[in-house]
Amino acid sequence: MRVPLVAGNWKMNKTVGEALAFVSGLNPLLSDETRKRGWPEILICPPFTAVPAVSAALANTEVKVGAQNLSWEKKGAYTGEVSGLMLKDCGCEYVIVGHSERRHILGETDEVIGKKVRAALDCGLKPILCVGETLEEREAGQTLELCRRQTEQGLSAVKPEEIASVVVAYEPVWAIGTGKEAKPDDAEEVIDSIRDTMGKMFGDAAADVRVLYGGSVKSGNIRGFMVKETIDGALIGGASLDPEEFLRIVSEVLKTRVAPKDFGQGE
Ligand code: 13P
Repeated sequence: MRVPLVAGNWKMNKTVGEALAFVSGLNPLLSDETRKRGWPEILICPPFTAVPAVSAALANTEVKVGAQNLSWEKKGAYTGEVSGLMLKDCGCEYVIVGHSERRHILGETDEVIGKKVRAALDCGLKPILCVGETLEEREAGQTLELCRRQTEQGLSAVKPEEIASVVVAYEPVWAIGTGKEAKPDDAEEVIDSIRDTMGKMFGDAAADVRVLYGGSVKSGNIRGFMVKETIDGALIGGASLDPEEFLRIVSEVLKTRVAPKDFGQGE
């Protein structure tokens, strides 16, 4: 079963104090959502510096914590890098890999991203592999081909028995931070194609992989994506910085995707 995932990517925002203020704002709003026992899964990815504090502050809730990047190595002489083992140690369950800002601003290649996905799994973290085309690539009709390549290379070192722990986020670069979200029909087409690519790589196991949409998601437009059966949730930037708006998105997801009656029983 693919449990919907609502993930906030704070990017380079919030000091530790600001991050804790977010959690203080979120906690009283959470009760209704947490009654659902993890449906949808809620995840926050603060900057590294705030991960331990946010993780400790959310320890008694259903909200999970992730990081935004990791090294492809576990330890050693890599000044300024942070390893998956360190993230796991600080309470992370997930890590975003290959976000378009790291690809395009910081020059990460598909090869590096594939190594990071591998490192995340080796450290017991669930990688969220980001793929997506630029505006030029979309206008040149290269979207499906580009996302196929990014998916294949990003997941090239993953074994079929591991693939269910991986999440893919389709984030068209032109939709990120612009207020111009993709049309749900277009996102559906790309995500179906990503699923097809994973099916060829991993067989039936690919059916369990969650694929999210990201790019200018807010409470006012999330429903359009969630009514598409192929879209399993969202990776949210700007709208995840405010606890009330973030929880409004979670509520919209709950309205669109109702938990199966027996979900969470027997835990
Ligand atoms: P926005 O929601 O701010 O467009 O950012 C999306 C994103 O990049 C999430 O990873």
